[in-house]
Amino acid sequence: MVKIKNTVNELDPYVPGRSNADLARAYGLDPAKIIRMGSNENPMGPSPMAIKALEENLHTINTYPESNIDDLKDKIASYAGTSPEQIIVGGDGADEILDVLAKTLIEPGDEYIVHPPSYMYYEFTFNIHGAVPVYARWDIENNQLDLNSVLEAISPRTKVIFLCTPNNPSGGLIDKQDIRTILESTDALVVVDEAYWEFSGVNNLELLAEYDNLFILRTFSKVMGLAGMRIGYGICHQDFIQYMHRVKPVFSLIKLSYLAAVTTLDDPDYIEKSTQLSIQSRDYLYREMSKFPELKVYQSWANYILVDVRGTGMNSKEISEKLMKNGIIVRDCSSFRGLDEFWIRVSVATMEEDEQFINVLKSILQ
Ligand SMILES: Cc1ncc(COP(=O)(O)O)c(C=O)c1O
Repeated sequence: MVKIKNTVNELDPYVPGRSNADLARAYGLDPAKIIRMGSNENPMGPSPMAIKALEENLHTINTYPESNIDDLKDKIASYAGTSPEQIIVGGDGADEILDVLAKTLIEPGDEYIVHPPSYMYYEFTFNIHGAVPVYARWDIENNQLDLNSVLEAISPRTKVIFLCTPNNPSGGLIDKQDIRTILESTDALVVVDEAYWEFSGVNNLELLAEYDNLFILRTFSKVMGLAGMRIGYGICHQDFIQYMHRVKPVFSLIKLSYLAAVTTLDDPDYIEKSTQLSIQSRDYLYREMSKFPELKVYQSWANYILVDVRGTGMNSKEISEKLMKNGIIVRDCSSFRGLDEFWIRVSVATMEEDEQFINVLKSILQ
């Protein structure tokens, strides 16, 4: 066997949510009827304009993607309220942008700060490059960032600080003033992950004009309904974006993903409706789940809700298994750093699916 590099040898594999096919096989279910409430996807489906554009362009996939994606950057810039030079687009979602950040910044031994529980992929990507995680604290009881724990974690070796708002999996927001305080306390790159910002109505874009160490991370996987097309983007000072472009794989954004992104941005009605339906589902799920005295349900600003299930007498694995037997996937959060074995995350679905979920939950808990 060839010698694998140490950082890869030591890596805990990333545990993704379970696939429909996997679940259908395990529980003898019809894959088409499985209700997906585990991966924070968009229950509305993609924009019809995006589907049409893909269908009309399928015959073009024998040629390489365009390396010039200026019109997509222009559209993202006007959607986000920034300029195209400040944008980098990734073809494996926001996850690719994270990987390019690590490649651009990390020398082995550099530190980065995360606030568990948060998005686990930061650690997965950065550790491969020899970066060392330093843990700040998310105050789960109050569902907010413990600002001091971040300030205390900063050292001369800190290269990157991750702030996830709304935070995945807890759904809490980070106060803008806290973000300012952190930006002013360090020269490290402060990555503000706004994958879910549309569901909260709050973003931090205006801080870009003041801080050149702010990096905003976004995705087309959530409100834009394109998780399967793998498109993400970052917004930062243009000089830093230039360095990232040296590293990013040139053709990672494939033709069909590019088209899907452009046409979805041309469909503001879809974006608005998709935001509103997810908020409606989130509010319904929050209200209905809060009626179960056995569950502790956390208020969320995103398209998912974190639930503490210890009052049910079951752990997250047991309760997720019971839901799965009924064809419903939720996220068992026991592999998330900062949470124990009693948490599940429930993503928004269609209203009919939400009702089905609540009924199944009733039958499990009674
Ligand atoms: C907080 C957060 N950031 C980034 C991502 C990555 O998104 P993408 O699908 O664009 O890779 C996710 C995906 O779930 C996420 O939850």
